[in-house]
Amino acid sequence: MRDRALRAIAECKRIAAMSEEPGRIVRRFLTPPMRQVHALLRGRMEAMGMSAEVDAAGNLRGLWQPRNTGGKRLVLGSHIDTVPDAGAFDGVLGVALALEWVEVAQELGLPLSIEVIAFSEEEGVRFGVPFLGSRAVAGHFDSALLLLKDAEGISVEDAIRDFGLDPSRIGEAALHPDAAGFVEIHIEQGPVLEAEDLRIATVSAIAGQTRLSLAFKGHANHAGTTPMRLRRDALAAAAEWITAVESLAERSDGMVATVGKVRVEPNAGNVVPGFVQVSLDVRHSDDAARAAGVEEMLARAAGIAERRGIGLDRRDQLDQLAVPMDERLTALLGSAIEAAGFPLKTMASGAGHDAMVMAGKVPTAMLFLRSPGGISHHPAETVLEEDVEAALHVGREFLRRMASDVG
Ligand code: GLV
Ligand code: MN
Ligand code: MN
Repeated sequence: MRDRALRAIAECKRIAAMSEEPGRIVRRFLTPPMRQVHALLRGRMEAMGMSAEVDAAGNLRGLWQPRNTGGKRLVLGSHIDTVPDAGAFDGVLGVALALEWVEVAQELGLPLSIEVIAFSEEEGVRFGVPFLGSRAVAGHFDSALLLLKDAEGISVEDAIRDFGLDPSRIGEAALHPDAAGFVEIHIEQGPVLEAEDLRIATVSAIAGQTRLSLAFKGHANHAGTTPMRLRRDALAAAAEWITAVESLAERSDGMVATVGKVRVEPNAGNVVPGFVQVSLDVRHSDDAARAAGVEEMLARAAGIAERRGIGLDRRDQLDQLAVPMDERLTALLGSAIEAAGFPLKTMASGAGHDAMVMAGKVPTAMLFLRSPGGISHHPAETVLEEDVEAALHVGREFLRRMASDVG
C-alpha cells in the first residue's frame, strides 16, 4: 500500500499546480484549471476501466461496474475546488484515495460497483454559497442558485454554460437510485488526531454552519476635511462589529465565528470609507446555540449601525443544520479500521463537507486522516504517508465488508 499512498500524494501535488494563479493554489467552481483536473482524473479513470463523464453541475463522475455485481453501488468522493491560497489536500486527497480504493477493489475482484465523484464546488468561494456540486448530486439544486453572481458579475448559470455544460440538465446529475452509501475520505483539518497520536477516525456528525454577508452603508467623504464627529465611516462601524463577533463567539462554548472577507469602497487612503461588505461564518454542533449566536451578532450590528448613523443590508447565504453521519455505515467503517489494526476513534467535524449534503440522500460516512500541525486552508497543509497508507488498509477492509453487505 506504500506505493499507492505515494501515488495518491503525488496526484494531489500534481493537481495543486492546476491553479488560477501561478505559485498559489486557487481553483474555484468551473474556472479554467478545473478542466485540467477533469482531464487528468478522467484519463486515470478511463485507464482503470471506469466510464467517466462530467454532469451539468460540473462534477466529474467515474463509474466502475464489474460484471458480477448485485446492482447496488458504493459512492466515494470529495471536492476539487479550493479556497484561495489553499493547501494541496483538502478535498483532492479524498478523490485521489477514492480512485486507489477502486483499484484495490479491482485487484481483490470484489463484486462491487463504485462511483467516484470529484465534486465541482464545496468551498463557497466563487459564489458565496457552498456545495453547488453535491446539491445537484443529492437532487436538490435550487434553481435560484443559478442566479447567484461572482465578483465579476458572472452568474452560476453563465459559468456552467461557459464551461460547455447545460444548466437545464442539472436534474440529471441526481444520484443513481442504486447508490447504497456514500463515503468521503478527507483530512481532519484540525489538531485532534495529532494530539491523540492517531492516524485516522470516523466522523459522528458535522457541525452546522451559517454564512451571510453584511453591508455597512456609510458616507464617503474627504479624509482631510471631514471632522470626526461628522463622519459616517462604514469601515469603523464594521471593525467595531468584527471585534464584537469575536467576543460573542468566545463567550459561547463550542462556537466558532469568522469574518474572513472584507470589501471596502472606495478603498483609498484619503477617503472616509463609505461602504463595507463583510462575510460572516458561524459554526456550532448545536443548531439552537448557533442560531442564538447569529441572532446576537446581528442585533449587535444593528446597534452599532444605529449609533453611528450607518445603514445595514444583510444577505443570507447558508443555514446548514448539523448533520449526523449514518450509524450503520459508520460502524462498518469502524470495523474496517479495527480489522486493519488501528484504534477506533470517532469525532465530530467542525469543517463542512459534501458528506453533509449527501447524507440527506443516502447513508453517508466519513473517514478522517490526521492533519499535521492541525493546519488546513493554508499552503502548509499536508498529510503523512503512513496515514495515507493507513486509509488504504482501511479501504481494503471496508470494501470487502461493503461488497458482502450489498451483494
Ligand atoms: C469547508 O472547507 C468549510 O468547512 O468551510
Ligand atoms: Mn475546505
Ligand atoms: Mn474540504
